[in-house]
Amino acid sequence: MEENVNRRDFLGMSLAAVAAVGAGATIFAMKKTWDPLPNVVSGGFTTVDISQIEKGELKTFEWRGQPVYVLKKDSGSEKIEGRDFEINGELYTVGLQVCTHLGCIPTYEKDKKEFLCACHGGQFNSSGVNKKGTPPTRPMEIPPFNIDGTKLVFGEEGDIYKQLTNKA
Ligand code: FES
Repeated sequence: MEENVNRRDFLGMSLAAVAAVGAGATIFAMKKTWDPLPNVVSGGFTTVDISQIEKGELKTFEWRGQPVYVLKKDSGSEKIEGRDFEINGELYTVGLQVCTHLGCIPTYEKDKKEFLCACHGGQFNSSGVNKKGTPPTRPMEIPPFNIDGTKLVFGEEGDIYKQLTNKA
């Protein structure tokens, strides 16, 4: 009888240990999924490291529940005044990736170097400026941002942002 109880206790403890390890692994996996990598989000600010972005590559991040993009332009790209800026000799452009027609999310076509909006055929050039003859009547918004070394902090109104938006 005592042997049965001990075996039952042992099985119970083993089961509890396996369940605890499983629960820990599940919580760890869930936390990894929820972590906002590679950017850091805090207090309405989103900080992104742009040092790993390749020339011609666009990355999209979330800022205050909205998509913002960072595009590192190809070598030899024309600098569009009021839209593009330089960091360490490289040309970048940023924008709120929301179509200014009716709010859909345009996708960036790397080969064509333009944004296309699938909803009603809106088009924007690589600097986020709307193309004439398509539904959007104004460029995509430039979200407030600041430059901190090789990082961009969305949510802060830095000097470059103020220059681009004529708030300086
Ligand atoms: S919402 Fe983009 S073209 Fe209409």
